[in-house]
Amino acid sequence: MKVGMLTSGGDCAGLNAVMRAIALNLYTNVKNVEIVGFRDGYAGLIRGEAVPMRRADFEGMLRVGGTVLGTTRTPFKLMSVPEADGSTRLAKMVAAYRRLGLDCLFTLGGAGTHRTAALLCAEGCNVIGLPKTIDNDIYGTDVTFGFHTAVDVAADALERVRTTSESHRRTMLVEVMGNKAGWLTLYAGIAGGADVILLPEIPFNLDKVCAAVTQGYAAGKRCIVIAVGEGAALDSEAPFKRRERVFVRTERGETTVTQHLAEVIQERTGAETRATVLGYIQRGGEPSAYDRVLCTRLGSYAAQLCRAGRFGVTVAVSGNRITFNALPDIAGKYKFVDPNGEIVRAAEETGVCFGR
Ligand code: F6P
Repeated sequence: MKVGMLTSGGDCAGLNAVMRAIALNLYTNVKNVEIVGFRDGYAGLIRGEAVPMRRADFEGMLRVGGTVLGTTRTPFKLMSVPEADGSTRLAKMVAAYRRLGLDCLFTLGGAGTHRTAALLCAEGCNVIGLPKTIDNDIYGTDVTFGFHTAVDVAADALERVRTTSESHRRTMLVEVMGNKAGWLTLYAGIAGGADVILLPEIPFNLDKVCAAVTQGYAAGKRCIVIAVGEGAALDSEAPFKRRERVFVRTERGETTVTQHLAEVIQERTGAETRATVLGYIQRGGEPSAYDRVLCTRLGSYAAQLCRAGRFGVTVAVSGNRITFNALPDIAGKYKFVDPNGEIVRAAEETGVCFGR
């Protein structure tokens, strides 16, 4: 059996742990296995450059952050556009897959990666996808690997910010990653004890946020911690697309929603504010114990599917079970926080303000 692997899109903790689980399952259960990797996501497959990966290469990879194969974002939309030589990236990938004689290609990635994986399937390649992203926004799976590690990091940051804010009686805004979906902000905000949580899915009202700050101090709090999702938007901005919002903010000299909010809160409430952007700290570093277990389950299950000849699917978590979805059913679809769902309500009913 000859299989290939690639990691595509923004990285996260656990990519190496998943590749290790796939490899160890195959080495343990299949007599003759050859594994190759493609560097820099689909770019490596487009170039047709396969890197041999031996069993020893996977040892010790369980806890290593990032991806040993490297990754890039290769936009799905460009895959079928002819390049200078007249051939498409898709055609080059299919040709490389066939020339290398692969029995299966494992693609570790998010929604965009799955869309390209579905294209490869439609061309007759055997593909198995694995759901990666700190955003936890892949449709059809309860959870993605890398998400809980990022939650741990962001929740810890919120806790740390709280102690310094208490010392100074400040209102601290912490920007958490997640442009389209607010899962990471929601979970980290709850776990980190944030007083206000602002998500892309719930446009916020400035008056409501300022009122929460004022009321918090009036109730005796020494600080207010606000978790702001990267893609959070004011209610007045909600009708506009993200790009349009960014354009308008830039025109007004505001770099991010977090910075704008910090200035408005200080001006209207008199509270001293500071803003912190957590950024890539949330994506780097080693996977948490939870993610190491999840990665091992997902990777091992993907190898089982490969051994059983079940292709054109992506591995998923449903309840406490590992399962799979047909790639065309989930490719390009996202999973968002339900503004009226149980998790938001649980937080709201304990006094967290969502700016509505
Ligand atoms: O991978 C997901 C993510 O981290 C988002 O949360 C964030 O908006 C985006 O990627 C950042 O992308 P880039 O790595 O291209 O800066």
